[in-house]
Amino acid sequence: MPTPAEWVRTHTCGELRAEHVGDQVTLNGWVDARRNLGGIYFVDLRDRYGITQLVLDEGLAEEVKLGPEYVLSVSGQVRAREGNVNPDRATGEIEVLVRRLQVLSRSLTPPIEVIDELDTAVETRLRYRFLDLRRGPLQRNLAHRARFIGAMRRAFDELGFLDIETPILTKATPEGARDYLVPSRVHPGHFYALPQSPQIFKQILMVSGFDRYYQVARCFRDEDQRADRQPEFTQLDMEMSFVEEDHVFEVWEQVMTRTFRDSMGVELPTPFPRMRWSEAMERYGLDKPDTRFGMPLRCAGEWAADCGFRVFTGALESGGRVMGLTVEGGASLSRKEIGALEEYAREFGAPGLVWWKAAEGGGAGPLARFAGEADSSRRLMQLMQASEGDLCLFAAGERNLVWRVLGELRNHLGRERGLIPEGLWNFLWVTHFPMFERDREADRWVSLHHPFTAPVDWELGGPDGDPAALDSRAYDLVLNGWELGSGSVRIHDQVVQRRIFEILGIEEQEQERKFGFLLEALAHGAPPHAGFALGLDRTVALTLGLDNIRDQIAFPKTTRAADLMCGAPSRVAPEQLDEVHVRSTAPEAGPEDGPEGA
Ligand code: AMO
Repeated sequence: MPTPAEWVRTHTCGELRAEHVGDQVTLNGWVDARRNLGGIYFVDLRDRYGITQLVLDEGLAEEVKLGPEYVLSVSGQVRAREGNVNPDRATGEIEVLVRRLQVLSRSLTPPIEVIDELDTAVETRLRYRFLDLRRGPLQRNLAHRARFIGAMRRAFDELGFLDIETPILTKATPEGARDYLVPSRVHPGHFYALPQSPQIFKQILMVSGFDRYYQVARCFRDEDQRADRQPEFTQLDMEMSFVEEDHVFEVWEQVMTRTFRDSMGVELPTPFPRMRWSEAMERYGLDKPDTRFGMPLRCAGEWAADCGFRVFTGALESGGRVMGLTVEGGASLSRKEIGALEEYAREFGAPGLVWWKAAEGGGAGPLARFAGEADSSRRLMQLMQASEGDLCLFAAGERNLVWRVLGELRNHLGRERGLIPEGLWNFLWVTHFPMFERDREADRWVSLHHPFTAPVDWELGGPDGDPAALDSRAYDLVLNGWELGSGSVRIHDQVVQRRIFEILGIEEQEQERKFGFLLEALAHGAPPHAGFALGLDRTVALTLGLDNIRDQIAFPKTTRAADLMCGAPSRVAPEQLDEVHVRSTAPEAGPEDGPEGA
């Protein structure tokens, strides 16, 4: 290699402008494209900062054979592109006439193209992530993520929060997913769990007097993957002492306002609106309502009670609900289009959808003959806020199912019918979640948030209180229909904490075994405290307009929790298992063995 001074860049590939014309420069980067136009060789040289056009004189181009993705050092003079300026490129006014060229590194033929619009299977992209990450959109996504998290850190620092790390090798935390386990070599038969969140540690930091904590925390959850879930993901986790809901909300509103301003130049109006969980469900059917458009759920129970339609009356008699959506101008939808909506509703567990093209005197659809009388159809139109030309879609049955089906259908219709305005950032606090929900299969109560969440009523409704009737002090932050994060006011009294564990069916011995250290800490002077964790992957993805969180994570996993680039998870040598006192019950490795597919 020549001396560093010779090959090391003087500028990046995104830096040169008209004012540099005449300068001698050295650039380093990757060969993005090559063109030979009648004996003149053009090369686009690319790095993280941009692309610069190089012109090679003929002798030089013949001497060195260049391939795509070769890494070069080039020196030469900047000259104006006169007449063929590229207005789409920041460096489009200039080019570099190369006098010296050095190949710093060759490349095999790339298995995927390094271009912005790449139409290649996601598995191939993940397998060759080192190339995929060179592509413009991924470079920009990761840079945005770094700016976004940087702005957030600065905001927390300035508000006096301390960045404190918590353990990765730890004990199970109850966030509701399966744990990833790590066997201990030193303690045969014992396992660490990777944290599903730093929840218990941050509460203990409050007991220890740190008052304001935050951390960019990695969390691990072994659960089914979806577009908005990864087995390891990142939270902006925080906790505060001597506060209630309002203080937490105020801090987050300040942090989000600053972060959006600093990283995106967007001004957010504050305070963010608030909505109780019960209202969110009743109006939007989901606990993460997209408030960018209307079309609320409407209750048709009053009309349905004596309508004579068995599906409706039956649902009401068995304690269920009859609710619907009014699709403005939807009467023009064909049978087939309505059928497709019904299919969509079925995906969320609906046995069917009942439709009605609203009109006085009956309208059309399966409900027409039950709404035949003018008075009846008028009443239904009034309940549904429907006019002639609108389509009403109804779901009947158990309350939670009706909410879910109509909530999902509302979002679907919002997207399909173009009802969602561009450019809105609709934040919303959802508050007063129920404390518990019934797990029918296991026949027990489970926490809707987590078991450390304070109840609104510290007395828990007295000794005979009904767990189903208890509201919690949990809250979610929702943005444009996505749950960005969750938090709650915590239980800081170990007696109340024990009662919650009892309701959840966690007996005293198990309480000691799993959470003894927390209970002990709570018994040694715990301040009232509350906190929140923002899912950074979801938030960053949403601010980038991505529909999958994968493309702003450098090395994400597939939906089957595999890393296709490094081949994790993988089998390990039997000796390594012996060392950690583990024996595998999995079948012997076959020739095709490996973490399959995405
Ligand atoms: P929760 O479990 O609601 O709360 O998680 C907070 C936020 O983390 C994000 N998130 C995920 N993101 C990507 N992939 C996943 N698998 C995943 N799971 C969760 C979501 C979610 O809103 N300890 C509590 C917070 C607290 O009470 O302070 C907690 O972890 O955006």
